[in-house]
Amino acid sequence: MRLSLSLLVILPIFLSLKGVRSHGIQPLSTIAIYKAVIAIDRKASIKACPSGQQKEWVTLTYSIQNPKIDDWVGVFSPSHFSASTCSPENIIATPPLLCTAPIKFQYANYSNPKYKSTGKGSLKLQLINQRSDFSFAVFSGGLSKPKLVALSNTISFGNPNAPLYPRLAQGKQWNEMTVTWTSGYGIDEAEPFIEWGPQGGEQRRSLAVTLTFDRNSMCGPPARTVGWRDPGFIHTSFLKELWPNSQYTYKLGHRLLNGKYIWSQTYEFRAPPYPGQNSVQRVVIFGDMGKYEIDGSNDYNNFQPGSLNTTLQLIKDIKNIDIVFHIRDICYSSGYISQWDQFTSQIEPIASRVPYMIASGNHERTWPDSGSFYNYMDLGGECGVLA
Ligand SMILES: *[C@@H]1O[C@H](CO)[C@@H](O)[C@H](O)[C@H]1NC(C)=O
Ligand SMILES: *[C@@H]1O[C@H](CO)[C@@H](O)[C@H](O)[C@H]1NC(C)=O
Repeated sequence: MRLSLSLLVILPIFLSLKGVRSHGIQPLSTIAIYKAVIAIDRKASIKACPSGQQKEWVTLTYSIQNPKIDDWVGVFSPSHFSASTCSPENIIATPPLLCTAPIKFQYANYSNPKYKSTGKGSLKLQLINQRSDFSFAVFSGGLSKPKLVALSNTISFGNPNAPLYPRLAQGKQWNEMTVTWTSGYGIDEAEPFIEWGPQGGEQRRSLAVTLTFDRNSMCGPPARTVGWRDPGFIHTSFLKELWPNSQYTYKLGHRLLNGKYIWSQTYEFRAPPYPGQNSVQRVVIFGDMGKYEIDGSNDYNNFQPGSLNTTLQLIKDIKNIDIVFHIRDICYSSGYISQWDQFTSQIEPIASRVPYMIASGNHERTWPDSGSFYNYMDLGGECGVLA
């Protein structure tokens, strides 16, 4: 018994070391964005055409003088990123010229084999609602010496503040479920709550608590510098005294100061059985999943395309799953805060239906002198705040 216990403890540590070496590189960190210069070429152009609230495909068309094989397109959100607000990473470093890393990127030739000769191309990218507008830029000079040559129009979702990405967690009591979600509404602007109840039965409202954090809560770069992005507001509500095995529905709500309501779509979940009840509970346990972009962007060194396969398989099997444990190494954001919204969006079809329990690993928590066991810089300065 003792032996198996210590094995359980040693295994994750071994895996984390492996994680550090083999698949821990955040693709966005391969861009030397702090070296980027702006050199708008009047003859170059890029235009974005949105096609629909929560997820949307956009088509970008661009035309560039002197195209090169390593030209790339970056997606920025908020759309206005400027050189004026950058602070240096430390007193010796010169301030970055571009203060903000893109939220994703793709090579300009991605779907255009003739790009190198024509300088013309187009790209289909999927955007998710991340509480801000978007702009797109073409860079020459590859990832290591980026030079911004063309900037697009800006586009945005109908309601950038919309309540999104609910994730359930089993509460402290067997008959309690917590719901956490993200929105752009602070508590001075709107009261957050959940409207919930038995499926088809009377619905009631439970107030939610709200948290957020700022750049100074981050331990270091890039989370404090080019990887920083406003996380919006994170709300949590506690649904109590659930009836065993009953099906419940819920909606995320915000009541604005003017009395108007903002609603999410309706979601559902099943309450757990009571303790000791004869039942089968189907549990899925994994770690090291990561995230991936369905449009193929951020694909550096085949970075975690498998995470999408795992997610899609779980969604397909969701009727046969009662609870999920993602035990660590959650999305490998590595200090690029935008990646967390993209991760919560990727797992929403799972986490909004069954409790999605997480634990922190080296990729969430490790940072020198921050109280973590190891002193690596695996998480890019997030020091566990995001997880
Ligand atoms: C597109 O660009 C990438 C990055 O420079 C390069 O590796 C790839 O070979 C290019 N593909 C084509 C079809 O030119
Ligand atoms: C993962 O999904 C991709 C795209 O659907 C597919 O090409 C690939 O074979 C899948 N990989 C595995 C291991 O199933």
